[in-house]
Amino acid sequence: SAHGPLAGAAVVVSAGGTREPLDPVRFLGNRSSGKQGAALVAAAAAAGAQATLIAANVDSGVLAELPAAVAVEQVNTTAELEAACAAHASHADVIIMAAAVADYRPAAAAEHKMKKSGDDLTIALVENPDILRGLVELRDAGRARTGQLLVGFAAETGSHDGSAESLAQAKLLRKGCDLLVFNDVSGDRAFGRDDNAVVVYRAGTGGAEEVTRSEGSKADVSKDVIAAVAAERSR
Ligand code: C5P
Repeated sequence: SAHGPLAGAAVVVSAGGTREPLDPVRFLGNRSSGKQGAALVAAAAAAGAQATLIAANVDSGVLAELPAAVAVEQVNTTAELEAACAAHASHADVIIMAAAVADYRPAAAAEHKMKKSGDDLTIALVENPDILRGLVELRDAGRARTGQLLVGFAAETGSHDGSAESLAQAKLLRKGCDLLVFNDVSGDRAFGRDDNAVVVYRAGTGGAEEVTRSEGSKADVSKDVIAAVAAERSR
């Protein structure tokens, strides 16, 4: 619809999980299904946004259920996701980084399928760029859409020291984004499931401020997150 709290806004959501090739048939990956990101982009479209999903290995069934109005770009590796995000930086009003990005990739992918050697194998990994941090830097350098809102996700298992709030605080500062959606993925929660529980924080003058708490289906949670995005845009 052309109406709604995000009417006319270009909203880009990254979803799923990046995969880093080890050889032509193997990769390092993660358990993200892309359901939360898909629900978010659908909620953004329902709120009137011109919505784009950058899908990193999102289940085909999840993609098939997207509203027709959502533009989909498929990527595989972190480098491809980074390039796709950078291509949207100049015109996106909102970028929501819901994708689970591989923090490391193999230093080199083997050209041919790796063979067993009969001995232990050590694989050298190099750190991937932080895409969200890079988007913040583009914006700070004046190379992004004016007023662009950048939203990060924090998937935490709660095994760290300190509260959700202090983790959110630290991550907001480290990333420099405007909103952070804190997602508890401990136990069975979140990955591949249809329900979720999140807390949304904003970067206030005094640090992380809680804006919304939401629990329920990924669709319901997404509606609340998109409402928080629209509210932040009109602050
Ligand atoms: O630091 P951490 O991985 O917990 O941060 C998660 C947030 O940062 C998510 O929004 C994720 O999409 C984004 N991210 C990124 N590039 C990375 C790692 C995470 O954009 N290399």
